[in-house]
Formats: sequence, C-alpha cells, structure tokens
Amino acid sequence: MQIRQVTARKERYMELLLLGDEQEDMILRYLDRGTMYVLEDPDLVAVCLVTDEGDGVLEIKNIAVSPQAQRKGYGRAMIDFLQTRYRGQYRILQAGTGDSPLTIPFYESCGFCRSHVVPDFFTNHYDHPIYEAGVLLRDMVYLQKPL
Ligand SMILES: CC(C)(COP(=O)(O)OP(=O)(O)OC[C@H]1O[C@@H](n2cnc3c(N)ncnc32)[C@H](O)[C@@H]1OP(=O)(O)O)[C@@H](O)C(=O)NCCC(=O)NCCS
Repeated sequence: MQIRQVTARKERYMELLLLGDEQEDMILRYLDRGTMYVLEDPDLVAVCLVTDEGDGVLEIKNIAVSPQAQRKGYGRAMIDFLQTRYRGQYRILQAGTGDSPLTIPFYESCGFCRSHVVPDFFTNHYDHPIYEAGVLLRDMVYLQKPL
C-alpha cells in the first residue's frame, strides 16, 4: 500500500471524489486549492483532499474509498497518514460531513469529536436533496481532532 500526492490533473479522480461529495461544481470549488493524496494497493483504492483553512486548521474536504474496498481500514489509513504528515504544522485536523450514519461513526472511530454545525448547508448549497442511508442531509457537521 502506498499513499502519494497528486499535483497534476486532479480531475482524473473525479469518479472517486464524487463518492465523497456528489456534486461536481462543489468539488471544483476546492479542487485547485486543495492538496490531494491517493492510496494505491496496488490499484487505486482511495482519495482525499485537504485544504488550509487558516488559524492552524487543516480541513478534509473530501475522502472516499472505492465501494468494493470499504470497511477494510483504508479510510483509517488515510487519516493516520494525514496525522503523521501534518503533525506539528497544524493545530487541528477538521472534517465536515452530513449528519449521516455512514460517515459520523467513521470519523468518531478515528478519534474525531463533533465541534460545530453549519445549519442548512446541504439544503442551501446543493441543487438536489442528498439522502444517505435514508437520511436527508441538512446541516454540515464539523468534527475535529488535535494534530
Ligand atoms: C467513509 C469512508 C471514507 C470510510 O472509509 P473505510 O475505508 O470504509 O473505513 P475503515 O475501514 O477505515 O473504517 C474504520 C472504522 O470506521 C467505522 N466505519 C467506517 N464505515 C462505517 C459505516 N459505514 N458505518 C459505521 N461505521 C463505519 C468503523 O468503526 C470502522 O472500523 P471497523 O470496520 O473495524 O468496524 C468510506 O466508507 C467512503 O468512502 N464512503 C463514501 C464516501 C464518503 O461518504 N466519504 C465521506 C465524505 S465526508
């Protein structure tokens, strides 16, 4: 398994990025300014993209593991990689997600704690309702972990 940074033609990974954020124009808002990593084992398995949000906060804007490789520890491996890579450079590793039973337990299992909520983020910014595991995503829930 290897994790490497991708600097050119990040849009090549759009199919995987769309798993983590299902509206392409929302992804295009952070694709250029973000730092992208891919995990290969030996083929492409996962992607993640982080941005500097200022004040010592590094934010995971997108993390996605291909469907057939989920629940095998790759998502956690990507979080572990970010912690090692950015320890001492940022104060906080932050992730924003819908209040979904598929993603909140993942972040909590990786040691993140809920910090704040942006009400109605999904219903205001996305052009269609997003359901995950039958739940309509409404608010953006932020979770944080010290780095
Ligand atoms: C969320 C996601 C990145 C997690 O990656 P993953 O490789 O499947 O997760 P891991 O195998 O590393 O899981 C680590 C732990 O998180 C928790 N977890 C992961 N997925 C979970 C789920 N669907 N339901 C409940 N807990 C979950 C478990 O505690 C798990 O440990 P366990 O498998 O030993 O029980 C992956 O499922 C994914 O790509 N989903 C679609 C895209 C997405 O929603 N991205 C997040 C956008 S914010």
